[in-house]
Amino acid sequence: MRKRQLGNTDLHLTAIGFGAWAIGGGDWDFGWGPQDDDESVKTIHKALDSGINWIDTAAIYGLGRSEEVVARALAEYPGGKDVIVATKCSMRWHEDRSIYRDLTTDSVKEECHNSLRRLKTDTIDLYQIHWPEPLAQIEEGWRAIQDLIAEGKIRHAGVSNFNVPQMERVAPIGPIASLQPPYHMLERNVEAEILSYCGKNNIGVVAYSPMASGLLTGKFTKEKIAALPDEDWRKKYNRNFQGEKFERNMELIEKLRALAAEFDRTPAQLAIAWVLRRPEVTCAIVGARKVEQVPEIAGAGDWVLDEATIERVERLLAEYA
Ligand SMILES: NC(=O)c1ccc[n+]([C@@H]2O[C@H](COP(=O)([O-])OP(=O)(O)OC[C@H]3O[C@@H](n4cnc5c(N)ncnc54)[C@H](OP(=O)(O)O)[C@@H]3O)[C@@H](O)[C@H]2O)c1
Repeated sequence: MRKRQLGNTDLHLTAIGFGAWAIGGGDWDFGWGPQDDDESVKTIHKALDSGINWIDTAAIYGLGRSEEVVARALAEYPGGKDVIVATKCSMRWHEDRSIYRDLTTDSVKEECHNSLRRLKTDTIDLYQIHWPEPLAQIEEGWRAIQDLIAEGKIRHAGVSNFNVPQMERVAPIGPIASLQPPYHMLERNVEAEILSYCGKNNIGVVAYSPMASGLLTGKFTKEKIAALPDEDWRKKYNRNFQGEKFERNMELIEKLRALAAEFDRTPAQLAIAWVLRRPEVTCAIVGARKVEQVPEIAGAGDWVLDEATIERVERLLAEYA
């Protein structure tokens, strides 16, 4: 699979990264319902077999569980030590599993220590502030991360869900290797100014939820959504999966399916390739939770859309905007 350099760093990431949110499972506010760890490990192995060379996780995914499963998968995989791992801080949890946000120095350092322990590593390749919250603490958190770089605990630092003014606030403190924003056909806010800011400042962009958290695979029906576990965050919080919006999305997806079929491709692959069409985008982070899901998503990593196809997608998106 083609690789791209992440911003100014020495990291060369495959166009597709493995997203480890869903394998954090259920039993927390932004969970995906029950998930079997053995299946998660096999899914990660399949992703690595398919050429994917990096994994994005976060302390908060499953309240530590995702990081632990990633560590297990890498320990059980030949060459697992060479896989690039990105994780995140700022979202923490109380004993009752409720979530809070903290970017104070002590908290960031404690979180990093905990992630190193769970990931069973001495150094984290890419450490990201998950959300710019609490907003008043972003400079303090970013300074703590610079200390962690100096201490050799992390190699590169990135931000996630930051807008341009927020990146401008932290950039003078230390270089931003990457931004991790949401980006998919139904969520294009980054196109207004964020992508060009990253391009101009050589900040890598690792785009998340390229398939709109599974919706753009074209495999959802009303019945399938109704059958999702109640604790699946998509059923609880994601408006793209609900009501009239879902109906309209389904019409769009059927048209994307027809377009993709002309290339013997699937809507999921079109969705991923579409995100990768932008030169500012370094990679797409794609989630998977079952072994059989991997070949389809990995297969999108080398599909480069031509201008005519991009234009046809643009017209469809305009029709359904
Ligand atoms: N920084 C942030 O705030 C943030 C936020 C969101 C995501 N992320 C990162 O980005 C990654 C990807 O985002 P995402 O998981 O929201 O969305 P996504 O990649 O758009 O969708 C992933 C989901 O689609 C389904 N899927 C995957 N392959 C499939 C296939 N071949 N056929 C049918 N369904 C398939 C799976 O869920 P089901 O099988 O359950 O449908 C999977 O969990 C996350 O894992 C995380 O690392 C970061």
